[in-house]
Amino acid sequence: MSSASATSTKPQAPSTSTVVIDPLDPQKGVKVREMFAGIAGKYDLLNRVLSGGRDQAWRRLAVKMAALRGGETILDCCCGTGDLTLLFAGAEPAPMRVIGADFTPEMLRIAATKTAQFKGAMRLPSYSAADGLRLPFTDASFDVVSVAFGVRNFQDVNAGLKDLVRVLKPSGRLVILEFTPVRNWFWRALTSFHLNYMVPLIGQVISRSRHHAYKYLPKSIGVFPDAEELKRRLESLGLREVHYRKLNLRTVAIHVGTRC
Ligand SMILES: C[S@@+](CC[C@H](N)C(=O)[O-])C[C@H]1O[C@@H](n2cnc3c(N)ncnc32)[C@H](O)[C@@H]1O
Repeated sequence: MSSASATSTKPQAPSTSTVVIDPLDPQKGVKVREMFAGIAGKYDLLNRVLSGGRDQAWRRLAVKMAALRGGETILDCCCGTGDLTLLFAGAEPAPMRVIGADFTPEMLRIAATKTAQFKGAMRLPSYSAADGLRLPFTDASFDVVSVAFGVRNFQDVNAGLKDLVRVLKPSGRLVILEFTPVRNWFWRALTSFHLNYMVPLIGQVISRSRHHAYKYLPKSIGVFPDAEELKRRLESLGLREVHYRKLNLRTVAIHVGTRC
């Protein structure tokens, strides 16, 4: 598979040429960051439109499945524009501290602007510009670590998962909300038209992304481990009681595991 496919036969300057990121590209991390920088301003709108208004309900369920105990420290990795970070910050029982981390400054700027609107309503989260593959936190720092729609974008999924587990305290919970490949033929037939045609089309019309972010989406889901395989990987990294729930016609999964 090529690392980037041009959509025009005419020669174009590298800065403006359109590309679709290959999920297996060794430069994927850099390109993913450029891609999110390019769509940051439209990202929330795209989420609402492409999920049919369901994405916040999925995040709320992820918060519920984290089974918060109150007074905890929470890291929301790949926090993007902060939707899940803010839901954790406003959750009951209230956490002591919530940090959102992301490596795309354009996404973090939007998260910070949204967060400022909640001043006085909750203990506000803070944000850190950080790579999920090399988190700038000491071992066993957090009671809960979450990632929504981020793990799939890691250059090296296993290395990323390992670092997320590293910063979890013993008995801490890792919560992963992510798209999941649909293996069953019936559910695949039902959902593949939307994912492979409607999402790229609507996504491109709204985002006008140079990176065709919404063509990359089904490609990246296709090479991502399915829900059972992800569960096995989490167990192999030392998590226990790993369980998951599938949502949205089985195209989305929330995994939760507890660090031994
Ligand atoms: C699809 S967005 C998800 C944002 C947010 N979690 C949500 O629920 O909408 C993926 C985010 O992951 C970030 N990301 C991808 N790879 C990353 C990495 N290695 N380290 C930190 N952030 C990363 C991107 O910058 C982007 O903001």
